[in-house]
Amino acid sequence: MFVITSSAAMTLLSLSASVLAAPQLRARQAAPTQLSLTAQLTLAGSAADRYNILSQDSDFVYDWNEAGASPFANRKTFPALVGAGVAVAYAEMPACSFSAIHIHPRANEIVTIVDGRITDYMIPELGAVNANGSTRVVVNEVSSGMAVLNPQGALHTLYNYECETGKGVAAFSSDDEGITVIAPSLFAAPDDIISEQLGAGVSNDQIDTLRMVIRANSLRVQECQKKCNITTSRH
Ligand SMILES: *[C@@H]1O[C@H](CO)[C@@H](O)[C@H](O)[C@H]1NC(C)=O
Ligand SMILES: *[C@@H]1O[C@H](CO)[C@@H](O)[C@H](O)[C@H]1NC(C)=O
Repeated sequence: MFVITSSAAMTLLSLSASVLAAPQLRARQAAPTQLSLTAQLTLAGSAADRYNILSQDSDFVYDWNEAGASPFANRKTFPALVGAGVAVAYAEMPACSFSAIHIHPRANEIVTIVDGRITDYMIPELGAVNANGSTRVVVNEVSSGMAVLNPQGALHTLYNYECETGKGVAAFSSDDEGITVIAPSLFAAPDDIISEQLGAGVSNDQIDTLRMVIRANSLRVQECQKKCNITTSRH
């Protein structure tokens, strides 16, 4: 949901001795010796086999309080989700902050706000239009106790225009929801491709400038910072 740079909870991926002793691992001849827990669970022959690999009761718990825990609990950071078909994220958005416009390629996302108020902007797909034929943008203000849907593949971004931290829990309909951040992905293309895509007259210098300002504060967020007496840049 929110794009937060973070390292995954690597401790959850490390192999415990009991896991290495699981019978499934001895079966295949050419299998690498250091399979991640997620890989072992993916290779397991059945759900019962997965229970035997997840031998600790705590394997079924994800702890966002752990140092370095990813906001995204999914099949990679929380291996017990392998085969579950769901993932979940918890995130806190500082006052006057926003997430970069992104999509989740493999999951619908339901964001429940547990504290504060968030504005969700969602841009569906080609053909979803307003009465006058322009591209539809779905805008919703959701506050504590409300949830908003960002359908699989739809572009979306969340803004916190409030002076307080916003907190949300996002449920995903895949254990491998994935994320594509639109602006950096677009600007990863070669300059001449970008220039053609944006239209004639956009120089390489301008493209470089755009690359550098991606993620810079928007006007509305600066106004929010003024309103909230926030002096330092939050991005
Ligand atoms: C088309 O309709 C939308 C939503 O009603 C509106 O925001 C937009 O300004 C309109 N565009 C034009 C070109 O009239
Ligand atoms: C910001 O500062 C002004 C002037 O000191 C004050 O009147 C206002 O209440 C403050 N706003 C917030 C949200 O703290």
